[in-house]
Parts: sequence; C-alpha cells; structure tokens
Amino acid sequence: MFTYRTLTGEDAPAWLDLRQEGARVAPNGFLVTLDEALAMDTDRARQMLEFGAMRGVFEDETLVGFCGYRPQQRQRIRHRAELGPFYVTPDRQGSGAARVMMQGVLAEARAGGVAQIELTVAPDNARAIAFYKKQGFQKYGVRPDAIREGGVPEHELLYLLWVN
Ligand SMILES: CC(C)(COP(=O)(O)OP(=O)(O)OC[C@H]1O[C@@H](n2cnc3c(N)ncnc32)[C@H](O)[C@@H]1OP(=O)(O)O)[C@@H](O)C(=O)NCCC(=O)NCCS
Repeated sequence: MFTYRTLTGEDAPAWLDLRQEGARVAPNGFLVTLDEALAMDTDRARQMLEFGAMRGVFEDETLVGFCGYRPQQRQRIRHRAELGPFYVTPDRQGSGAARVMMQGVLAEARAGGVAQIELTVAPDNARAIAFYKKQGFQKYGVRPDAIREGGVPEHELLYLLWVN
C-alpha cells in the first residue's frame, strides 16, 4: 500500500539517503552529481524540504520514492508546473509506487488549477521515458547543450502533460 504526501523537515534523513542512492545508481536520472548529493548534510536537507517543493511516496512508513513539484508562481505562468527529479528506489520500481506518486502530483495540479506539467529527461533514459509516456506525457522539444558531462555537451528531451 503506497501513500503520497509532501515531505517536511522531519523526512530529511530518509530523503537524504534516498537522494544519495539515486545519484549513485541512476546518475542519468539526476542533475545533481553524487559528490553534490554527498555534500548535503541533514540540516541543509531539512531547510530544502521546508520549502515544500518535494513530494514522497511511502510504503507504510518507509520513503520509497520522491519527486520535486514546483508550480510556477507568477500570474501569467501559474498554469504551469515543473516536475523533477522523479525517483523510485530500485526495489520498488515496477511496483506501482511511481504511478501513485504521479497520480498524487496530478491530483495536486488539478486542485491547484495547474494545466500543464513539464519535465526533462535524458535521451538514453528509456525506462523513464516509457513511464512518462505511459502516464500521458508528450515530447515537445529538445534542449541542446543542456548538460555538460566532463565538458562534453549533452542534450535533454522536454516532455509535457496537459492536466485534465
Ligand atoms: C523513472 C521511474 C520513476 C519509473 O518508475 P518505474 O516503477 O520504474 O516505472 P514502471 O515500471 O511503472 O514503468 C516503466 C516502464 O518501462 C518499461 N521498461 C523497463 N526498462 C525499459 C527499457 N530499457 N526500455 C524501455 N522500456 C523499459 C517497463 O517495462 C515499464 O513498462 P510496462 O509497465 O509497460 O511494463 C524509475 O524507473 C526510476 O526511479 N528510475 C531512476 C531515476 C530516473 O531515471 N528518474 C527519471 C528522471 S527524468
């Protein structure tokens, strides 16, 4: 049984562990590097979570996934929100936890009047792309030179979902 909720400062230790795991096992799923993830301490993680922009999916009391969800604040772009990072621990991939987290985000978007959710994904991240497509996301562009890995430019794909 998976549940979805906004993470708070109290979730900092569990979130920090999961974020470090993600940066280690799925580096093409994160903009943050492993070194950057390891450099964050619990106090800083608590501060970040207090912004209220991070959501989690729990199996009973255990955090098994998290995602960033950031509705735009300015009047003319309030119909849009950014999603990401989006991560589920390997043990729980394929279990439905990712879908529960995405459905939670969609319910929030609907309730908050958000019409469009945007995300970016690495072109070689086939599993994530398959998941996003399954959830109804459509590709709308490519951002060139989005990431420089060891100085080498890499592009990323832009996806969006119209919330209904
Ligand atoms: C992306 C992520 C959240 C998706 O959650 P998940 O539980 O793995 O998703 P699901 O299993 O429901 O869906 C993935 C789909 O891709 C399919 N798939 C698996 N490997 C694949 C591959 N190499 N190529 C194409 N499709 C693949 C699965 O079979 C599944 O489709 P199905 O339900 O029709 O069988 C999760 O894989 C994850 O956390 N990955 C690491 C972090 C990451 O890359 N995040 C995205 C950053 S943009």
